[in-house]
Amino acid sequence: MPNKASVAVACDVKDLALADVGKRRIEWAFQSMPVLQTIRKQFIKTQPLAGIRVSACLHVTTETANLMVTLRDGGANITLCASNPLSTQDDVAASLVSDYSIPTFAIKGESNDVYYSHIAAALDHHPQITMDDGADLVTILHTKRKELLDGVLCGTEETTTGVIRLKAMAREGVLRYPIIAVNDALTKHLFDNRYGTGQSTLDGIVRATNVLLAGSTVVVAGYGWCGRGFAMRARGMGANVIVTEVDPIKAIEALMDGFRVMSMSEAAGIGDVFCTLTGDKSVIAREHFEKLKNGAILCNSGHFNVEIDLEALGRMASSRRPMREFVEEFVMRDGRRIYVLAEGRLINLSAAEGHPASVMDMSFANQALSAEYLVKNHASLEKKVYSVPEDLDKHIAKLKLESMGVKIDRLTPEQEAYLASWSEGT
Ligand SMILES: NC(=O)c1ccc[n+]([C@@H]2O[C@H](COP(=O)([O-])OP(=O)(O)OC[C@H]3O[C@@H](n4cnc5c(N)ncnc54)[C@H](O)[C@@H]3O)[C@@H](O)[C@H]2O)c1
Repeated sequence: MPNKASVAVACDVKDLALADVGKRRIEWAFQSMPVLQTIRKQFIKTQPLAGIRVSACLHVTTETANLMVTLRDGGANITLCASNPLSTQDDVAASLVSDYSIPTFAIKGESNDVYYSHIAAALDHHPQITMDDGADLVTILHTKRKELLDGVLCGTEETTTGVIRLKAMAREGVLRYPIIAVNDALTKHLFDNRYGTGQSTLDGIVRATNVLLAGSTVVVAGYGWCGRGFAMRARGMGANVIVTEVDPIKAIEALMDGFRVMSMSEAAGIGDVFCTLTGDKSVIAREHFEKLKNGAILCNSGHFNVEIDLEALGRMASSRRPMREFVEEFVMRDGRRIYVLAEGRLINLSAAEGHPASVMDMSFANQALSAEYLVKNHASLEKKVYSVPEDLDKHIAKLKLESMGVKIDRLTPEQEAYLASWSEGT
């Protein structure tokens, strides 16, 4: 990878002097991203994104840096901004600018105004491809920067919440170009949302608080892909896990997986640590705050900071103060103390480092191959949200298995004929 920018690279990052640490961490992560390594080698030869302007709005982590370098090496002209005010790794942002000459706009802890000014800066790049995580960039493009829409060919979306927003736009007929829902690839959500969020959410809670999970009661709101992963890992640490849900099927699944299931109103008075992973709003709200035990810890790992109603909590508290990094204490009028982690933002990306590189390997392989697919096929696509083509998804799974040295069986011709036939029942 070529080093050190020779010309000034547009940026707004915390401190370029952090670049050296960032570069080593980026290289460390790349070692655990063999599928992306394979794609990068192929992209260097085939240049599938030659001259294409990409505006990416993603969590600025070591893994994202490796995706950016892969796209750049495939010929793309990229700009990157943060997809969350608290998820940026400042050393990585610095290295992307200094070592890889990739314009980057992201500072950990940036205000909402700065967050949106960074999205504006990424859009000033006049993207032909948008690569979003949560659909903030796409929303701004469709509301405040409509003049740029004619130049956009296609886009990708990384997360569940973004896909939900984009599908709503497509339903209302306002989406102006085709977007691939990377989240919906099996090689993305089965692994990233489940095992990535499961491990890194636990990591974020432990790094922020240093609590002992063994013997504690952990309440998991939402038993989707992320919630399943987190519940499984919390149990593995010895916690008694309670699941809350609104979907009866997911609730039965949680029960049969061996978890206690109840309403949040009931769980509120029992839990020691609460984590929301729903993509919904006000999942923990006023009526629940009234019942929480003294010392209860609340956090969120869903995309937006709306899952815990922090405005209501602020109004109910008689005082609040920071206790340690990423932990804020709210003292209630009856003297109970309640702790909120990372301002209710994604705990795994705020207090820890987000998902391990080895799982982001598959998610970002989907991003890179989807970008290549879209450049080839966008003209024949409608202004809709598309799934990642099944052959790409399977190809990524094969590459991942190969990188792990795992071989699996193949269907014999007889087996293929048997499985394709309806007459061979005896
Ligand atoms: N922290 C991360 O790094 C990370 C990674 C991937 C996804 N996400 C985000 O996490 C969120 C969940 O993603 P997912 O893939 O698990 O989605 P999902 O759709 O698979 O699961 C969400 C679950 O929450 C349930 N739910 C909705 N409202 C609820 C409520 N009020 N109470 C209890 N349960 C409720 C739904 O029934 C569903 O089962 C999304 O916002 C997604 O964007 C975060």
